[in-house]
Amino acid sequence: MGLILFYPSPIFEKEDVMSEEFNQKLEKWIVEYSEKDEAAKNWSQKFYGTGFTSFGSNQTLHKNEPLFQELAQGLIPSIKEFFQELKAVEPKEIYCVGMWCSINKPKSMHPRHIHPMSACSGTYYVNADPEMGNIFIHDPYDNRQMGIIFKPDSPLAFDTYAVPVKSRKVIMFPGWVSHSVQQNMSDKDRIGVSFNFQVRYDGSQAQQTQSDL
Ligand SMILES: [Fe+2]
Repeated sequence: MGLILFYPSPIFEKEDVMSEEFNQKLEKWIVEYSEKDEAAKNWSQKFYGTGFTSFGSNQTLHKNEPLFQELAQGLIPSIKEFFQELKAVEPKEIYCVGMWCSINKPKSMHPRHIHPMSACSGTYYVNADPEMGNIFIHDPYDNRQMGIIFKPDSPLAFDTYAVPVKSRKVIMFPGWVSHSVQQNMSDKDRIGVSFNFQVRYDGSQAQQTQSDL
């Protein structure tokens, strides 16, 4: 008998998931796309402040563009590793259902949100460092406001944790994990590709998952 901790927030981070050569090509593609794609530019001007994103105009870059297809495939081993560590039921298939690119300008920030119905979401950082804005993971007990009674090394000490970003690093989590992005305090643009993956099971595994719910 003793301490039981329920409801952890699972976050998975992995560096160097794609090659430097691939990353340079991807950065060049995104910068050029941000200069010429009118639909993405228009949506970004209306809804994305000074930054650029294809979120409102094209979330299927993994279907249309070879570099993003390669990235989606390249992320799958990390997602498998993440699921294994979480003791998830092994899916028959892990597949990308959404992928979009963003350029976040100096002083920009991104408000708290989740990615509904996504088994694994996150961002692959194309060009990023901690000065350009880390990702914040928020306490699922909204407004708990009791952190003051815990020591700093307690898992309950803070209601927000920052995970440092870095170029060629991926940070991922189940879509229900509440997160936001810290303000970009540098004078450089942070560039990233965000994604949603879903899973498919065969009949027996799906039944097992259903009965576990
Ligand atoms: Fe997000």
